[in-house]
Amino acid sequence: MRLSIKTSDVVVATGQRGTGKSFAVDELAKAFGAHVPLYCYDPLDQHKGIRFARRVVGTYESQSADFDALCKLSYASGNNHLFAEEANLFFRDGMEYHVPHAWESVSRGRNRGVGMTLITQRVAELSKVVVGRADHMLIFRHSWGADVHTLAKMLGDDAASVREWREKIKTVPDHHFYWLHDGKVEGPIKL
Ligand SMILES: Nc1ncnc2c1ncn2[C@@H]1O[C@H](COP(=O)(O)OP(=O)(O)O)[C@@H](O)[C@H]1O
Ligand SMILES: [Mg+2]
Repeated sequence: MRLSIKTSDVVVATGQRGTGKSFAVDELAKAFGAHVPLYCYDPLDQHKGIRFARRVVGTYESQSADFDALCKLSYASGNNHLFAEEANLFFRDGMEYHVPHAWESVSRGRNRGVGMTLITQRVAELSKVVVGRADHMLIFRHSWGADVHTLAKMLGDDAASVREWREKIKTVPDHHFYWLHDGKVEGPIKL
């Protein structure tokens, strides 16, 4: 794997449907799996090919409770990495008290060697607190205005570069992403 990402890091992978998020995340999982146990919240059953210590698939009625239980297990176990699809359902403002272990893991997981990869189509819905915790962002193509706006404002530092970023975010090729880390951005790259 070409990206230098630690298993205790917080990663946000965002992009509209079909742009390559789950594929790229599986590449991360293969690399991380050589070092630590992996957990996965995978409601749409997209990560069949990876060996997880525990994977929660296809829950509807108790989504929040199931997700929080998985995060509690991961945090208590220490030294592992948890992947979460549809992360905007849980890491949005107002959800802190519904999934307290999930938020604890994002804020303090590093102390326990616990990292998380949060996968979403709707980065604009993610809490700013959570986005602020991310060590890495993998930014795939977006066309929805609110998401393009959120990302362009994050990447551009004046009005002209925000405008440029809007166009770049809307035209990232399939299966490619911008890699934002340590205040730098690289890409578009592909795994
Ligand atoms: N780097 C890649 N190389 C080849 N095929 C890819 C790559 N990334 C994604 N794909 C394929 O493109 C399709 C959509 O990718 P997927 O990861 O499921 O998108 P998303 O999770 O963003 O909806 C899948 O069929 C996947 O196998
Ligand atoms: Mg997917």
